[in-house]
Amino acid sequence: MEMERVQALAYAGLNELPAQFIRPINERPENSKPISGVTVPVISLSQPRHVIIEEVYKACREWGFFLVTDHGISSALIQQLQEVGQQFFGLPQKEKEAYANDPATGKFEGYGTKMTKNLDEKVEWVDYFFHVMSPKAKTNYDIWPKHPHTYREVTEEYNKEMLRVTNELLELLSEGLGVEGNVLKSHLGGEDIELEMKINMYPPCPQPQLALGVEPHTDMSALTILVPNDVPGLHVWKDGNWVAVNYLPNALFVHVGDQIEVLSNGKYKSVLHRSIVNKERMRMSWAVFAVPPHEALIGPLQELVDDDQNPPKYSTKTFAEYRYRKFNKLPQ
Ligand code: OGA
Ligand code: NI
Repeated sequence: MEMERVQALAYAGLNELPAQFIRPINERPENSKPISGVTVPVISLSQPRHVIIEEVYKACREWGFFLVTDHGISSALIQQLQEVGQQFFGLPQKEKEAYANDPATGKFEGYGTKMTKNLDEKVEWVDYFFHVMSPKAKTNYDIWPKHPHTYREVTEEYNKEMLRVTNELLELLSEGLGVEGNVLKSHLGGEDIELEMKINMYPPCPQPQLALGVEPHTDMSALTILVPNDVPGLHVWKDGNWVAVNYLPNALFVHVGDQIEVLSNGKYKSVLHRSIVNKERMRMSWAVFAVPPHEALIGPLQELVDDDQNPPKYSTKTFAEYRYRKFNKLPQ
C-alpha cells in the first residue's frame, strides 16, 4: 500500500498540521509544558564504583532515567552513527521505500511510519528505521540500509559498544539491588540478549505546539540507550510533571524499561516519556532497545520476593506474551 511519510508531508511546505496529527487539547505540548528548574541525573562512569552504584540505584528508583557520561564511546563514533542515519533519511523517497516495513504482516524491521487504526486515533510526527543488530543469528543484514555504504560498518561498531555498556549497566543495576552482578543479564537471556536499533526522524513541523513526536509511553525493553542530535525534545515524567531533558553532547540517555521494572519487583521504575517536535529543525534520535529473547520468562527476581513482606507485584510471563499484550493494549 502507498504510504504517506511524515518527511514527505513536512517538505511539501504545509502551513497547517493535518488533522490526524492534532492531539487532543490536554495532550498538546502548549497545554502540558515541562516544569522549569528541575534537571535529570547525570552520572559519570569515571567515579569510584561504589559511588556509581549508589547514583545509578537512586536514579533508577526516583526517575527510571539518567544520562551517562565518561562511558568510553568515542565522540567520533557517535558522530559517524549520526551521519550515516542522516544520510539514509536524506536519500530519495523512492530509495527509502525499498526498505518499507509492514507491521500488519509481522514485518517489523525496516523503514516505517505509524498509521491510524481508526478515525479517532492520532499519529505521531515521526518516521523511523528499525532493525535488530544483536545477536548475529537474529540479525537480518539484508534489511539494513545499503546506502550510505558505511552504514553497516559503523552500526556494527556501535553495536559492540552498546553490548559493552548494556553489560556494565546491568551489572550496576544488579549490584544496586543487592544481588550478584550477573543476575539481571542472566534473566534477560545472557549472551542471547537482543539489541534493536530504532532511528527516529522528526521533520520540522508547521505547528509543533499541537503535535507530538512520540506520545507518552514506557519502553517495553529492559533498558533503552538513546543518543539524540542537538535538537532537544525529550520529556520524562517525574512526580506529576514533565521534565525537559537538555542536550548534553556525547551523553547516553538511559531509560529503564518495563522488563527491569518487573525483574526488580517495582524497585526500579520504567520511565514514562514523550518527545516533542520543532518548527524549524529536524530532530533525530538513535534508540537502542536491550530486550530479552521472546521465549525468556520475565517476572520478579526470586531473591527480591517473599510471602509476607515483599509479595510479587507483577505476573511472570514470556517476553513474547508481554509484547503481544502491550501492542494490543491489554492488561499485563
Ligand atoms: C522511543 C522514544 C524518544 C526520543 O523511540 O521509544 O521514546 O527522544 N524516543 O526520540
Ligand atoms: Ni521510548
